Amino acid sequence: MNLINLNIIFEQYKGVEELNENDRLLCELSEQALASSYSPYSKFRVGTAIRLASGEIILGSNQENLAYPSGLCAERVALFSIGAAYPNAVIESMAITAQTDNFEILKPVTSCGGCLQVMAEFERKQSAPIEVIFYCLNGEVLKVPSVKSLLPFAFVEDRLER
Ligand code: THU
Repeated sequence: MNLINLNIIFEQYKGVEELNENDRLLCELSEQALASSYSPYSKFRVGTAIRLASGEIILGSNQENLAYPSGLCAERVALFSIGAAYPNAVIESMAITAQTDNFEILKPVTSCGGCLQVMAEFERKQSAPIEVIFYCLNGEVLKVPSVKSLLPFAFVEDRLER
């Protein structure tokens, strides 16, 4: 038996103003994306902004449905729209933020497991790391260098083959 200890390294910033210009812009755009959230059921808005290697920035927000499981998280809305519209795009970085009228969110909101799995597949497909930035409005920012740090045991395609 081996006991293995996995460590992850991520950057922690006191606020968005500590980020470099590109990352700050991405956070600000993720905040703008909150405006298109359709979340009448949870009243929890999530916004994301994704920067492609081309420099283009794609926005996404959570889209809910009366049949709850039919809704989709902001991250997957944006990632799948990139997959459909720009199938060969390389993703450099994505910023995610959340907001609700019900309480003040005091810490960065991190992505659900389903979204991490989808991020992992995009990262594998492009063979280049995707930076993930979790941005708390008026608060802390966490920046992870790769989806591998968030989901080291992601299900990967080679498990379907010998
Ligand atoms: N949500 C996201 O958009 N991203 C996540 O990673 C977790 C949760 C959304 C789904 C739902 O519309 C609302 O937040 C409350 O769960």
